Amino acid sequence: MKDLLLTPDPAIKPAFVRIAAAIREAITSDQVRANESLPSARKLAEQLKTNRHTIMAAYQELIAQGWVTSKQRQGYRVAADLPVQGSRKITDSGDLSERTFHWSINSTPQVPDGSMKALDFSYNFAGGLPDIENFPFQEFKSYMSDSLTRPDIFGLGYGNNNGDGLFIEQVTTYLRRARGITDKEIIAVNGSQEALYLISRLLLKPGDKVAVESLGYRPAWNAFKTAGAELLAIRQHKTGIDIRQLESLFKQHQVRLIYLTPLHQYPTTVTLPITERLAVYRLAAEYNVAIIEDDYDHEYHYQSQPLTPMAANDPLGLVIYLSTFSKIMFPGARIGFIAVDKSLAADFLNYRSIVNHKPNVLMQAAIGRWMEDGALERHLRRTGKKYRQRRDNLVKQLNNYRQQGIALDFHQPAGGMALWLDIKQEAAEIEAYAKARDVFLLGESHFHLLPENNENRYIRLGFAAMDEEKLNLGLARVFRYFS
Ligand SMILES: Cc1ncc(COP(=O)(O)O)c(C=O)c1O
Repeated sequence: MKDLLLTPDPAIKPAFVRIAAAIREAITSDQVRANESLPSARKLAEQLKTNRHTIMAAYQELIAQGWVTSKQRQGYRVAADLPVQGSRKITDSGDLSERTFHWSINSTPQVPDGSMKALDFSYNFAGGLPDIENFPFQEFKSYMSDSLTRPDIFGLGYGNNNGDGLFIEQVTTYLRRARGITDKEIIAVNGSQEALYLISRLLLKPGDKVAVESLGYRPAWNAFKTAGAELLAIRQHKTGIDIRQLESLFKQHQVRLIYLTPLHQYPTTVTLPITERLAVYRLAAEYNVAIIEDDYDHEYHYQSQPLTPMAANDPLGLVIYLSTFSKIMFPGARIGFIAVDKSLAADFLNYRSIVNHKPNVLMQAAIGRWMEDGALERHLRRTGKKYRQRRDNLVKQLNNYRQQGIALDFHQPAGGMALWLDIKQEAAEIEAYAKARDVFLLGESHFHLLPENNENRYIRLGFAAMDEEKLNLGLARVFRYFS
């Protein structure tokens, strides 16, 4: 039984009545609930520095009043049916039960896109969800266990606040070898969302302008808006973004930041071509605009080697590179990292220390060991192969439906975990139809910065989380719409 916080009122006499009143107060204020066990007479006697018989007398009083029951070997419990339960405390200043309290809330950001609820559905086409069920938990457990068996005592304290030493070392090597990112400072974060929020607070002030892809990632927008920024939409075309329009945005407004998902554009999965990357970089340099490059699923690229990140060719150090373990592992890991120019790192860490002294290093320590052993690479090879097969299967299924006369249009995604499908029908209606049949998917309206751009004909189909058989069944449920 947990301790009870009791404050006997010295004005009440005798002692057993005073203690009975204090226990009753603990029950009515919801500290302890119906049927929960109460401390033994011995324990309470110690706590209240009184005699055990006084406590037993207090309990007898409460039993007589119906608040408490007592059974042999089970000790005292709060009665299952209480005379009064969980009434709110009333303070010395009188009865406040007639009053209500109103929070004054600054801003209420729009909830991302409902994908948080996706797991409630039997068939889940949420865009970026990995195959969590088949994560190698057993294998990972040994690295977790190792990081507790041989803890880094220094790292578990307040120091070392850019993250676990081994994790940072491993990520640094990985970024150099796999992504060509060399002279940046690596900082661990509790997921990219935390980094987006901190960067926004660090770099933006109310009224600042941030240019974002017109179809894009709402959680990032929310972070910018929470810092008071105004969002400007970058026009997209089938294979990238409209550089001319971007330049005119830079000319017309003093843009502070540009947020991009260049490798697999979110949500369309288009890869930003090299010429456009260079053009964006030149413009950013000319107009003094920092670039946030969100490379959220770099590891999953099937066609060829993925293009190296913009952060790998960043002579001015203006690219802030973001990455996450939410796709490699699972979103609940809450591990990500940023690679930033050394001139920004100290400010970022100082700012972070206001919110959170340092990220949770235990999980990082396990990941560091997992990487050091080469096990992460093996995991990536396995999942990469599996997700490629799942993409190929989805493409095959969609081609079959097309052959059956359903008008569909799509590009096979070169990587990532989702496909952007032009379904040429009311996307919102199909989304609702699917959800009513226990299938989660999102139509294009969820991804538009400007609602007037919504053509209501695209849906996003995540293919990584379900195996082929399940995906095909889910897809069949959606495509019954056409029969
Ligand atoms: C564009 C984009 N960025 C980042 C993330 C990952 O965010 P986090 O690391 O906060 O889980 C996702 C996941 O869906 C994403 O789609």
